[in-house]
Amino acid sequence: MELSSKKLLAHIGVQIDNFDCSKKLNTSEVEFIRNSIQENHFICFKNQKLNGETLAQFTKNFGELEAYPEKDKTKGKIEIFNVSNVSENGDHLPEDDQRVLLQKNNSRWHTDSSYRYYPAVFSMLYGQEILPPEAAGGQTQFSNMLMAYEELSDDKKMLLEPLHQVHSYNDIRRLEPGLPELTQSEKSNFPPVTHPLIRVHPDRNYKKSLFFTSNTSLEIGGMSLDEGRDLHKWLVDYISNPEFCYTHYWDLNDLVMWDNRVLLHRVIPYDYSRYRRAMIRGTVEGKEPVAGPFSNTIRNKL
Ligand code: OGA
Ligand code: MN
Repeated sequence: MELSSKKLLAHIGVQIDNFDCSKKLNTSEVEFIRNSIQENHFICFKNQKLNGETLAQFTKNFGELEAYPEKDKTKGKIEIFNVSNVSENGDHLPEDDQRVLLQKNNSRWHTDSSYRYYPAVFSMLYGQEILPPEAAGGQTQFSNMLMAYEELSDDKKMLLEPLHQVHSYNDIRRLEPGLPELTQSEKSNFPPVTHPLIRVHPDRNYKKSLFFTSNTSLEIGGMSLDEGRDLHKWLVDYISNPEFCYTHYWDLNDLVMWDNRVLLHRVIPYDYSRYRRAMIRGTVEGKEPVAGPFSNTIRNKL
């Protein structure tokens, strides 16, 4: 059957029905998906039947798999993240379990693995167990940073242009103090990095977007602590404007794929002790740093 998609919203998202992501893809299928994600930033593939192995295979069509920093948060293999409040063996975990605390941290706007100098490109999240329809929360929300940048005032664009945010994996511990300390080697594998707040997209004719997260560090370089935190808080409120957002209401066996270079995302919190929610994620590794207006690769092109 010919691959086709239908648009979800004008500024984010398409849905693809009648396509089996567990099979080996041919080059024109990979190309179709690549073009769709480039244009729409988000794809939902309906009615999939996947496991860790086939999700990893599907993800590899678009680049190399990223490994998760902490092995006990993965499922089967280190490249498949266990995004759930259910253990690898199928037990519903208590709310204070460190694996559940990490799910709670996903409810803060972010883009995946921004704590890496080369952050992730695409994420693929497969819904194996979802909340019952009467439960509140559990949706995944996305905000379009190209659009959010465009709608900024000129003053705000000028203010943000030279700034960087600090991103540190270890700082998740400040937001979720119940998490155990990282080991020395985990810390030294993931030292803090900075990324420009304004991201330039060479593959989009050097268009600019916002790029920041609120699930690791909240500090902005080149400003006092208070000023930086105030600006960060302003950004979080600003991009939460529903005008920029798409909210995904999960059906069982949805596979959703998004572009971390363009969208921020978060899970809407739910009752973690009452309901089970189990997803697995494959991630396409980034191969280059986030380019800002003053990066050497960019500044003479603008
Ligand atoms: C993630 C994530 C959101 C969700 O896996 O990176 O942010 O809805 N998940 O579980
Ligand atoms: Mn995420």
